[in-house]
Amino acid sequence: MNQHHDRSVADTVSDEPPTPVTPTEAQREVEEKLIRNVLRSFDDCENPRLRQVMQSLVTHLHAFIRDIRLTEKEWALAIDFLTAVGHITDDRRQEFILLSDVLGASMQTINIDNEAYKNASEATVFGPFFLEDSPEIKNGEDIAGPAVGQPCWVEGSVKDTDGNSIPNARIEVWEADEDGFYDVQYTDERVSGRAHLYSDDEGNYRFWGLTPTPYPIPHDGPVGNMLEATGRSPMRAAHLHFMVTAPGQRRLVTHIFVEGDELLKYDTVFGVKQSLIKRFEEQPAGTPTPDGRDLGDQTWTRTRFDIVLAPEDTPR
Ligand code: BEZ
Ligand code: FE
Repeated sequence: MNQHHDRSVADTVSDEPPTPVTPTEAQREVEEKLIRNVLRSFDDCENPRLRQVMQSLVTHLHAFIRDIRLTEKEWALAIDFLTAVGHITDDRRQEFILLSDVLGASMQTINIDNEAYKNASEATVFGPFFLEDSPEIKNGEDIAGPAVGQPCWVEGSVKDTDGNSIPNARIEVWEADEDGFYDVQYTDERVSGRAHLYSDDEGNYRFWGLTPTPYPIPHDGPVGNMLEATGRSPMRAAHLHFMVTAPGQRRLVTHIFVEGDELLKYDTVFGVKQSLIKRFEEQPAGTPTPDGRDLGDQTWTRTRFDIVLAPEDTPR
């Protein structure tokens, strides 16, 4: 950490309402000449996509700097902020992705790269809590492990966009416990609230999980400080993650959300899509379970997510 890191946004960014500035003709010419020079510096880039990316970045970055009439003090704060984002990032924590998530950049990239195709299920943010090598379960088994929460029966089908069932699709599922923590956020190496299973011969799947509960994204770092300084909540709407793959189909990374959750409108990473909101039906204690499991005096919920995969070669 360098000496600037304890400088807070509140100390550095003026809280005076911004006064509109109209640069003089001469000043405008200075600013525009610089942009022309920077753009030209990329003219000889041999990779046309890289050239396009860099020149567009320069155009938009300079438009932003000029739009807000950025001060040197504010730019130094921004550099300090990005430095802190880098310092807290390691193998277990990716603060840059978190930043991209809370700015809606992850979601916008997903929107662009997974354009709606016929009736295919919609994609949403991946999040930082997926793990390779999750335990395999059979249809009807439980993903919870030692995770605590209200049991939830999840079932559905996997089909292609022509309505054909897809047997043997790999379905990865992961979720937080009722305290809002994923297994990887505990220090005891537990594996809970995650598993993978395969759709059966009819293309159906079913498993026990936990009724999702809302939880905050990790907010003890620079991104959390930014959310606090801007009066934003770190909370995510309650959800259950899915990643579904099958040969010849486009990989689907998504989650389902809980109908009626008050946070649906305020999800801090902008991941909610109407088609992904599902009813989680409350079942009073004693209601017979679909597989005859005895839950004693516990209440439980049930939900259905019928998954539709787009073909792999869907035009992008
Ligand atoms: C999550 O769903 O687990 C998540 C997504 C984006 C940022 C942080 C967490
Ligand atoms: Fe999540």
